[in-house]
Amino acid sequence: MLLLCEAGLDSCPQECWSIYPKTLGAFLDLPDNRILWTGMSIGYKDPANPANGLRANRAPADEWLIVHD
Ligand SMILES: Cc1cc2nc3c(=O)[nH]c(=O)nc-3n(C[C@H](O)[C@H](O)[C@H](O)COP(=O)(O)O)c2cc1C
Repeated sequence: MLLLCEAGLDSCPQECWSIYPKTLGAFLDLPDNRILWTGMSIGYKDPANPANGLRANRAPADEWLIVHD
């Protein structure tokens, strides 16, 4: 996703595909022991769409990141 970002593209992973194993399994012709777990949309976001302005809060990096030199 970072590489896509670097290439000017936006992306959104969606694990919700995994709740439709029968429908997607039939569509993708998957064996019974396989499911589609995560998909990812790739494209260009519409900056004018309010949904794309949502920003989740992030803990500051020094709360969770340890850098070993
Ligand atoms: C592997 C993965 C799967 C995800 N699947 C879903 C999903 O099925 N539905 C959903 O609403 N968000 C899903 N998310 C969360 C969104 O893609 C996204 O992370 C969230 O909207 C918050 O955006 P942000 O991470 O830029 O703050 C998933 C995230 C990851 C990393």
